[in-house]
Amino acid sequence: NQRLTVNLPGLTMKNPLMPGSGTFGFGDTPAAEKMDLNGLGALVIKTTTPHARKGNPQPQIAMLKNGVINSMGLTNPGVDAVVNGKLPHLRQKYPDLPVVGSIGGSSVTDYQCVAQKLANSNMLNALELNISCPNVQEGGMAFGTSPQTVEEVTRKVKEVTGSIPVYVKLSPNVTDITVIAKAAERGGADGLTMINTLLGLHIDVETRQSVIGNGMGGLSGAFLKPLAVRMIYQVAHVTDLPIIGIGGVETVDDVLEMFFAGASAVGVGAAHFDDMEVIPHLAAQLEQRMNELNIESLEELREEVRNEF
Ligand code: DOR
Repeated sequence: NQRLTVNLPGLTMKNPLMPGSGTFGFGDTPAAEKMDLNGLGALVIKTTTPHARKGNPQPQIAMLKNGVINSMGLTNPGVDAVVNGKLPHLRQKYPDLPVVGSIGGSSVTDYQCVAQKLANSNMLNALELNISCPNVQEGGMAFGTSPQTVEEVTRKVKEVTGSIPVYVKLSPNVTDITVIAKAAERGGADGLTMINTLLGLHIDVETRQSVIGNGMGGLSGAFLKPLAVRMIYQVAHVTDLPIIGIGGVETVDDVLEMFFAGASAVGVGAAHFDDMEVIPHLAAQLEQRMNELNIESLEELREEVRNEF
């Protein structure tokens, strides 16, 4: 369906919806094996680091009243296993699905190493630069919360990724998101993904302990949506870069709200806990809702925000 098609750097998507990084692992989780991932606008794979990581102490995830808290700790098999095993397998099964790689690391050199190997694989349509994971001691969010490091790591990654577009994934754990977005733009970002999870803590009063093994963790789900919408709206007014809006999207109106805020595509994460097929389900409802609300095209919504400059 033409009206749902979106074109972003590196990505021609049949619908504007993609899972948040990690939702379907490398397209090989039990849920992913059961469904047809061709229903996604694109697949974003789990953040990949130079070496395999077991992740943080269990439990790594807990359900809260209106969302989820996680401290996975970038569990992944390492970039060589991804490039030599996971990606070839995924590509064989899904030759036409747009796939976005996700770059993680503890240092600028780490990020460059992973970025180069993922880009050289020739199996990815775009890359996401994850400088916003709240669950690792080194790297992660520490890189994403200072404009200097955001600009530097973006520039260094762009040096080794050739023609593959890089979307920088921003952290909400900052005072002024527009300063961070502008730093990513100066570094050469082709787009932004926003937002990653918000650092939080949930203490169980019976055990007097955090509900997850690592103590603090990243919050996602419904209660994050107004924060994501606010940040996307602010950033859409200071940059022309395309924004992949993510944070608490559950319904078709949530999807449209992201577009009204200035997004050009939408990520869905926590909502998958209730419905693994939430993306095809939302895509199936989107056009009718656009008709009801007199929305001709999704692109015009981003234009409207741009005209408010
Ligand atoms: O909330 C998150 N959890 N954000 C990330 O970027 C990575 C993930 C993890 O692995 O901890």
